[in-house]
Amino acid sequence: MSAVVIVGAQWGDEGKGKIVDIYTEFAEVVVRYAGGPNAGHTLVVGSEKLVVRLLPSGILRKATFCVLGQGMVVDPTVLVGEIDEVKRRGHGDIEKRLLLSDRAHLILPYHIDIDTLRETSAPKDKAIGTTKKGIGPAYEDKVRRTGVRAGELRNLSRLVGRVEMALQAWAPTIAALGGTLPKAADIVSALEPLAARLVPLLGNASQVTDDAIRQKKRVMLEGAQGTLLDVDHGTYPFVTSSSAVAGGAAIGAGIGPNRIDTVLGITKAYATRVGSGPFPTELDDELGQHLRNVGDEYGSVTRRPRRCGWLDLPGLKYAARVNGIDGLALTKLDVLTGMPKIKVCVAYDTPSGRVDDLPIDLLEDGEKVTPVYEELDGWTESLDSCRVLDQLPPTARQYVRYIEERSGVPLYLVSVGPSRDATIVLHNPFVGRAAAP
Ligand code: IMP
Repeated sequence: MSAVVIVGAQWGDEGKGKIVDIYTEFAEVVVRYAGGPNAGHTLVVGSEKLVVRLLPSGILRKATFCVLGQGMVVDPTVLVGEIDEVKRRGHGDIEKRLLLSDRAHLILPYHIDIDTLRETSAPKDKAIGTTKKGIGPAYEDKVRRTGVRAGELRNLSRLVGRVEMALQAWAPTIAALGGTLPKAADIVSALEPLAARLVPLLGNASQVTDDAIRQKKRVMLEGAQGTLLDVDHGTYPFVTSSSAVAGGAAIGAGIGPNRIDTVLGITKAYATRVGSGPFPTELDDELGQHLRNVGDEYGSVTRRPRRCGWLDLPGLKYAARVNGIDGLALTKLDVLTGMPKIKVCVAYDTPSGRVDDLPIDLLEDGEKVTPVYEELDGWTESLDSCRVLDQLPPTARQYVRYIEERSGVPLYLVSVGPSRDATIVLHNPFVGRAAAP
């Protein structure tokens, strides 16, 4: 097995950082395939801890080659800042281990301004609750064919015309939002020092990724956000603007879907969402606050409090289907310790009857659906020292087996605490057998 996609099975923030970190030890190449600096993941290698938004997860490992794929939108200022931070920490070789797809689109300052103006001027029920990093407007430019690709940094004099074209298209929007139209020449001259840093990193990400897979190297295709934030498969319009699902890995990395061997889905033992939009199992009460406190559920990019709720099995089955998830990593099981009863949503009551698939069309229309819950017994014992399933308290074991059976997806890993070794590894898709982290 050499190409593994790691994808969030909920609304992002499933604890991908730790899982990706565990598996990057086995990966020779890590490719980020979608999204931009809206994602935030904490990397821990030894005693070193770093929060990155654009750089792929393998970046602190000397033997790992990292690729920013063409499905991404890249803010050049953020990227150069992250590279400098990693260098400052003693990884002077980072630029030799990093490739930026020349087809990735750039986030330019007007994308951030438009994203921010839109969010701040929208009525409360219409605001998406974006991260205000310019993600939506940059992808809008891409599909409108007025975007600027990283490869265009090679020729800044030609770039002025491209930016002018984009600004013309945005002018009515910026005026309606009360913003000021910037000058293309100013945008491009601010890009000059960044271009000098980024042009040497440009390359053909598709070729590099495909070659690595053909050479049987272990390649990790790292997702960002999560299935229910995917522009096609999420709770539209309260979604991000990219293809976060596993299929997005083929497009965003530039490989054929048949090159992917395994899809690993990550789900929390409960559910969270940051930003607006439907969240049927949300706990808008003390229990939700308890999960937020114990699970430290605050956005890693924006520090916004995350909305918390019970695990949604129809949602998980939906994610398993649209991603083709082969195995599940279940995270933050320890956060449920001490809860006398744990509820799991198993179906929905909708105006047209009970359904056990996620009624995403109803959620899109804002119609009310009522979750149907089953209740399981909780546990009080600490899970911190559990390293195999048999060490879990019986009711915790029952809970994880229940999730496995009811989702129809085998468990590959269970995380029982924030530290790297607080993990039960059942299967490592890179080596095809159980391995201690
Ligand atoms: P955008 O991606 O900034 O346009 O935001 C669109 C929606 O996706 C908002 O609800 C954000 O809160 C959410 N979102 C974007 N990135 C992440 C992430 O990495 N984790 C969780 N939510 C995210």
